[in-house]
Amino acid sequence: MRSLIDITDFSVEEVNELLDTACDIVANPEKYSEACKGKKLATLFFEPSTRTRLSFTAAMMELGGNVLGFDSASNTSASKGESVYDTAKMVSCYADIIAMRHPKEGAPYVAARSASIPVINAGDGGHCHPTQTLADLLTIYRELGRLENLTVGFCGDLKYGRTVHSLISALARYKNVKIVLISPEELALPKYVKYEVMEKNGMDYVETTSLEDSMPELDVLYMTRIQQERFDNFDEYERLKDSYVLDVDKMKLAKEKMLVLHPLPRVNEISVKVDADPRAGYFRQALNAKYVRMALIMKLLKEAAEGRQMPEPVDVVFDELHCDNPRCITSTEQEIVHTFKCVSPENGVYRCIYCEAKKIKN
Ligand code: NCD
Repeated sequence: MRSLIDITDFSVEEVNELLDTACDIVANPEKYSEACKGKKLATLFFEPSTRTRLSFTAAMMELGGNVLGFDSASNTSASKGESVYDTAKMVSCYADIIAMRHPKEGAPYVAARSASIPVINAGDGGHCHPTQTLADLLTIYRELGRLENLTVGFCGDLKYGRTVHSLISALARYKNVKIVLISPEELALPKYVKYEVMEKNGMDYVETTSLEDSMPELDVLYMTRIQQERFDNFDEYERLKDSYVLDVDKMKLAKEKMLVLHPLPRVNEISVKVDADPRAGYFRQALNAKYVRMALIMKLLKEAAEGRQMPEPVDVVFDELHCDNPRCITSTEQEIVHTFKCVSPENGVYRCIYCEAKKIKN
């Protein structure tokens, strides 16, 4: 079935349509109150979540549907060794749509390939988080009135921050968006996003370590948490954890209408005093997440009813290359056929279709 695994699974027109539907839901919530009556959403959360799981649950409830699921892997058959592949196939017997969060990169894609119902990626390891991106886009659109002609700063953990990777992929498709990447060198944006998203799309971008110097030119500042759970080395996390703190003094350097976003949870990177500034949009962003997830659930259920399928990957090689990324779902589900997609034929560059790790094939 058609699923949402990566934000680019939807065309830019489809994304815009979802944002329009979300705006209509905000204006006319009663019109949608029975839109998913009799339908069930399964929330399969193998990794901690507050906002994402609760906003999916609230979204389905406000559409008149029901929700079942779990919020930790420890109480499920995953702890007995059940594969994601089998879990998704089995849940297809009980629900109409799945929202899945998993610590392994590519796990929701495996689920989408085995389930007979749509699967929504609610965050896979440090890879991507397309529904947070929909919430981010809706917030920028509602607050600034446009998704074009913007300078967007991303600050903090750009390496493991999956929300950053997905939002940059989405913004690459709008005109005249400049990206300012603000991070310690150790937490720089992965190369695949830099080269295969920003450079391929001719995006203008700069890399810097200074938040202060970047502030005056930004229309949007996207703060992120340093992703403690993805570090192999705790000392390195301790050293980097307070790299950036947005406070009232730094806000004085910003444009009068600059929008501050954060996918939340915040740890220490935005002072609580900033919350009173009207430019602090992060709690409104959490509310927008519910509306856009409502629009998404309706879209995927409608397409499932029409029998719309997920496209098969093109330009791929099977089982010839092996993914070495320890965070990839192929590292734990041994029976998955290692599949790589060619991204640069002239240089023989391939990427794992699950986690996007790079391989060179001669
Ligand atoms: C983000 C995530 O899970 O990636 N949270 C969220 O979904 N709102 C950001 C984070 O955990 O730092």
